[in-house]
Amino acid sequence: MQISTEVADLRKISAGKIAFVPTMGALHEGHATLIRQARQLCDQVVVSVFVNPLQFDDPYDLERYPRTPQVDIEIAQRAGATILWLPQSSEIYPSAVEQISAGAIGAIYEGVHRKGHFDGVLTVVKRLFDLVQPHWALFGEKDFQQLFLIQQMVRELGLGIEIIPVPTVRESDGLAISSRNVRLNEVDRQVALVISRALTNASQATNIADMRKALDETLASEVGFNRDYAAIIDESNFELASDRTFAKRALVAGWVNGVRLIDNMPMTGMAGDAR
Ligand code: PAF
Repeated sequence: MQISTEVADLRKISAGKIAFVPTMGALHEGHATLIRQARQLCDQVVVSVFVNPLQFDDPYDLERYPRTPQVDIEIAQRAGATILWLPQSSEIYPSAVEQISAGAIGAIYEGVHRKGHFDGVLTVVKRLFDLVQPHWALFGEKDFQQLFLIQQMVRELGLGIEIIPVPTVRESDGLAISSRNVRLNEVDRQVALVISRALTNASQATNIADMRKALDETLASEVGFNRDYAAIIDESNFELASDRTFAKRALVAGWVNGVRLIDNMPMTGMAGDAR
């Protein structure tokens, strides 16, 4: 694996197709899964590590975002990355960079709680795509709204990049893997399990009313969990799902002892749902 801070190095290897895994570092098993899957697509896997200031509305959050360069190198290498690209801020954000707006869907759910977050995500992802010029880019379903907005941007701007969604990787107890999990102590972790329990309970219901009930009641059963939102949406447009929605997904976000967690799950329990 080559470690590079220069975009010029990417150009040298780009004779063939590239599979790209953009990250903000603090790599974990979720990222390793993306990289391994990228490696199945082709021999050139570029992993970027860039903590993007534009997607943080809170400077304190940006400051304490975990930075684990040595672990990142080990995980990327072991999972099969061929280039670990650590771009300089000046390379990503020269004097003029096209700003992308996430539009209406960028302002709901996560967008309500993190103002401008998705504009920042799309702006950096578009810039990274322009520099790397990948054939494929892989993103985890854990950040489902982010994935949706990136797919929408690629479609609307005609970028010609195939976005590969990768299902959420979970710990054996069901907790979705996230770089924030290290901030949970033993007790918090038990509380946090209510999220995956609520999603699983909802996914076993066979109509939308029962799904909502299972989601709400399970989340409410854990006093240590403070929800920001819990909803069942239509995956094709992010509107609230009905019984007739073909592909539904439950989204949950909230707080456990000062740590904000998000998770989601496809709702596959319904009779007639063709998944
Ligand atoms: O999901 C992330 O880690 C980031 O939002 C991304 C896509 C790398 C953009 O900074």
